[in-house]
Amino acid sequence: MTRTLVCVPTYDEIESLPRLLDRLLSAHDDVDVLVVDDSSPDGTGEYAAARAADEPRLHVLHRAGKQGLGAAYLAAFDWGLQHGYDVVCEMDADGSHSPEQLHRLLAAVAEGADLAIGSRWVSGGEVVNWPSSRRLLSRGGNAYTRLALGLAVNDATAGYRAFTAHALRTIPLADVASAGYCFQVDLAWRADRAGLRIVEVPITFVEREAGASKMSSGIVREALWRVTVWGARHRARQLAGLLRPRDRVTRTAPRG
Ligand code: GDD
Ligand code: MN
Repeated sequence: MTRTLVCVPTYDEIESLPRLLDRLLSAHDDVDVLVVDDSSPDGTGEYAAARAADEPRLHVLHRAGKQGLGAAYLAAFDWGLQHGYDVVCEMDADGSHSPEQLHRLLAAVAEGADLAIGSRWVSGGEVVNWPSSRRLLSRGGNAYTRLALGLAVNDATAGYRAFTAHALRTIPLADVASAGYCFQVDLAWRADRAGLRIVEVPITFVEREAGASKMSSGIVREALWRVTVWGARHRARQLAGLLRPRDRVTRTAPRG
């Protein structure tokens, strides 16, 4: 049987996490859940720990302080691999990622995807209740990512995902430095370069009804400079390849 873990990063999600866990645990009786809390001042970590005490499918990782979404997921992936899970998923705590749509991601993985992305920006995908500023940021960020990296993913910043353990072992996770939401782009880009099979499945992203987004100008700035640097390096590598075709031919030519 496939063992599946859903990782849920939290920072001040006390208004959202209880309902999300109700929905997730009842929609899927065959998945385990790992809450990764960065010492939320609002008591989210304590809530999760108390609930885990009588819910054997729920686990909690407590981290020392707010260290970013990327660091939280890296710790969660490590935990999932060490505990022998075959499939490790990402899901936001605020209800934006419907637990009732998780089966779409799991089906894509069962059909051979190494990484399934729950995508807002493919046919059938949608966003409910996002202000036009957030839509623009997401569409713009994805357009820039495609342009800079040549990455053929429509929703590279999406945070609803399922990775196979094989994918997580193949991607060089130790090199990942992205702290904020560009962690998502970073992993899609690494998965693509590692030759892993990425499949996007449509999802309906619903804006949170309680609590606040942790999106910040710092997160946008980090994404912008990292994607720009990755893109420049990528183009430089491509150019270097173009400038040396003759070398390659002579080196690989059979000797007579
Ligand atoms: N542990 C931890 N540490 N969790 C965090 C941190 C952190 O530093 N920052 C954010 N989170 C958690 C939140 O508590 C929530 O469960 C999830 O990460 C997403 O955070 P939101 O603040 O709700 O993100 P959003 O709705 O604005 O962001 C959307 O865009 C991001 C970038 O494209 C979502 O689609 C995200 O999935 C996506 O990564
Ligand atoms: Mn959110």
